[in-house]
Amino acid sequence: MKINFTETVLRDANQSLVATRMPQEDFINILDTINKAGYHSVECWGGATFDSCLRYLDEDPWERLRLIKKHIPNTKLQMLLRGQNILGYRHYSDDVVRKFVQHSIENGIDILRIFDALNDLRNIEVAVDETLKRGGHAQGTICYTISPIHNLENYIQLGKNLEKMGVHSICIKDMAGIMSPQEAFDLVTALKANVSLPIYVHTHSTTGLGPMTYLKAVEAGADGIDTAISSFSGGTSQPATESLNYALKQMGYESGLDDAVVKLINDHFKPVKEKYVASGLLDPYVLSTETDALIYQIPGGMLSNLVSQLKSQNALDRLPEVLAETPRVREDLGYPPLVTPMSQMVGVQAATNVLVGTRYKNISKEIKAYVRGEYGQAPGKVSDELIKTVLGDEKPITGRYAETLPPEFENAKIKLAGIAQNDEDVLSYLAFPQIAEKFFESREAKQSNRVTYSIRQI
Ligand code: CO
Repeated sequence: MKINFTETVLRDANQSLVATRMPQEDFINILDTINKAGYHSVECWGGATFDSCLRYLDEDPWERLRLIKKHIPNTKLQMLLRGQNILGYRHYSDDVVRKFVQHSIENGIDILRIFDALNDLRNIEVAVDETLKRGGHAQGTICYTISPIHNLENYIQLGKNLEKMGVHSICIKDMAGIMSPQEAFDLVTALKANVSLPIYVHTHSTTGLGPMTYLKAVEAGADGIDTAISSFSGGTSQPATESLNYALKQMGYESGLDDAVVKLINDHFKPVKEKYVASGLLDPYVLSTETDALIYQIPGGMLSNLVSQLKSQNALDRLPEVLAETPRVREDLGYPPLVTPMSQMVGVQAATNVLVGTRYKNISKEIKAYVRGEYGQAPGKVSDELIKTVLGDEKPITGRYAETLPPEFENAKIKLAGIAQNDEDVLSYLAFPQIAEKFFESREAKQSNRVTYSIRQI
């Protein structure tokens, strides 16, 4: 049986270990080799890469994608898209979502893994629809979480709804690395029995369960797993490509990976990793195994955010109270999966409730928007008391929030006349206005320098 491997070194491993700061020059020379390794796909774009290219690396994210495509023509390129949020942190109008999908595919993306933090499928339907129209592979996503209201039946229903929507495959996304081997086995088995689509499993090594979870998922019939080349694997990143390939081959599975080529890829990234450790960009702490996430049922990243938030307010001694308050806030909000942006929103509100001393005396504007229904349908019931506190007599939105948003693309294009060089620039601007503007300015300066220089040469 064939197991598909998706290599994450360019996106999730990069994002999880070094805050997505890997510049183009650290991977460009290995792309031709990656092309020959036999991966099912290479996750290389979307997620935080787009933001990071513009904000920190002075790179055009679209240019990066075209470059990767040029060197990896034979392996599918994959991206992570946050549904109606595309790659940003707010809801975008439908025309922007459609344009973004269109240009992602035109510039080289083959597989779009599309998710919504609340598993509200209305927030991914436009992105899925456009992917299907443009001939891309639409991978629907189930964000995995544990709560009193999340169970196999919910997940099966989500799988069936994704199938109805027309996606080509389904990803079980365990962003926190809390899915246990047995839970993976049961979930994959249940989905396989109820949905006739390929099932991909995504986890992290954070809690140490990752490799075991993959083995059990594969035993239950999963079609593919996400792994990272070993020098960029482990800890908050994915389990290692080579180890999983080694173990699965002995169990009789076929991965299609060429071991000699995979070794060349690792040989390339080993010194890159050493460089990041030396510069401090890679903190060895993120490579350790963090089992507290299993006790508190919250992602490791969220726990360390809470600790640093409390430290900065000289209130680290209140951590036990905040950890007790966190599940209560999550319950009040109807048990949202603790993935960006919900993990931050829940954490901040829990800390505020504890530090202020009165629950919900101060409510963040994001939580207010959530209660108003702007993020979509909560998985469970939002507490009546909280609704009353936030909305008074106003009723929450029950429809699809994006439908209340006017089209944005054409206006932005007009606004950027003379600045944007193409539609991709307009999309960069819509995703991250201030940082895109800064990027355009610096690009402009570089280009005019180059012109002056070449004139002088003449
Ligand atoms: Co991930």
